[in-house]
Amino acid sequence: MKKLTLLNNLTPAEFLRDYWHKKPLLIRQAFPQFKAPIKATELIDLAKRDDVESRLITHVKKQWQLLNGPFTEIPDIKKKAWTLLVQGVNLHHPKADALLRQFNFLPDTRLDDLMISLASDGGGVGPHFDSYDVFLLQAYGQRRWQISAQTDLSLIDGMPLKILRQFTPEQEFILEPGDMLYLPPHYAHDGIALGECMTYSIGFRAPTYQELGEAFLQFMADSIDLPGRYADQDLKPSSHPAEISKSMLDTIEHEFNKVAFTKDDIALFIGEYLSSPKPSVFFNLPPSPHTPPKFLKLAAQRGIQLALKSRMLYRNRTIFFNGESFGVQGSDRTLLIQLANNRRLDGASMATASQDMKETLCVWYEDGWIELQPAPA
Ligand code: SIN
Ligand code: CO
Repeated sequence: MKKLTLLNNLTPAEFLRDYWHKKPLLIRQAFPQFKAPIKATELIDLAKRDDVESRLITHVKKQWQLLNGPFTEIPDIKKKAWTLLVQGVNLHHPKADALLRQFNFLPDTRLDDLMISLASDGGGVGPHFDSYDVFLLQAYGQRRWQISAQTDLSLIDGMPLKILRQFTPEQEFILEPGDMLYLPPHYAHDGIALGECMTYSIGFRAPTYQELGEAFLQFMADSIDLPGRYADQDLKPSSHPAEISKSMLDTIEHEFNKVAFTKDDIALFIGEYLSSPKPSVFFNLPPSPHTPPKFLKLAAQRGIQLALKSRMLYRNRTIFFNGESFGVQGSDRTLLIQLANNRRLDGASMATASQDMKETLCVWYEDGWIELQPAPA
């Protein structure tokens, strides 16, 4: 694999071996001559929407305040020490999505979203740690990062946000536009805006096993199949009628032991779970959809692409799309795998899809899960 500028001229394999989950990496000019593709006004507009997760953090006289969006108003940028955080900008902005996709040497199952912070001078979210890996890309203005490998990660009680009780910075960097800092999980950090600035966080998802386990058991509950009813043809007279008998428990245990989960169950669950959109996501339906024949004709000319909010994964012969699973085979499978990996499919490939797949694609188009690629200018 080739060396990447955004990884300090390391190959993805070298980066994963030496840094990922292990130690920080400062990458000067990870994105040379970077021009922030999303304006502050666009970010503020997103923070006003109720389908976008946003937070406003202020730090005044040693007091931290956290407000959750949507917001009708954002403080003046001349007012000191506030930060607006907008989650999932990639779901709404093609350029944010394109930036996130540059990290596709990491699997889609791990890549979460692009969060953007806009801060006034002195703004920050305080010294803290995150449970996830993160790439912090300076998009506009300057931010001073202090970081520490400290193991004391205790937090101040009663704060509206996670603030380390004791932060002992070990290294300090001033990031300019295009510079990027990678931090592994649980690495203490504090970023303070030096003047107005914008920082992009390329975030990852790592569900807890507890969360996965609970969701898996719910998933299994829907597919459990235990025929029959409790029976006790060998029942013996009881002198202690209130006692639960051992034979009753043994019989039930024997039946419960028939509930086994297979690798296929786990794969199906993980595929549906990880491809599910977040609860706040609503797909944008095409405002005046083409009829199916017209859509297919245009798709064969222009190709199709996944909607920004769509998540498509696959494993063997199953495609997972926005929380649903579809069994696929033959050349359709090849096409859908291409669509999942590249998030687009060209017109010529599109034209070779089976009748079944074309019908399914029409439904996905009407649901706002896929769309036509833009017409050439
Ligand atoms: C920020 O962009 O201000 C905060 C990002 C972080 O520290 O995780
Ligand atoms: Co952080």
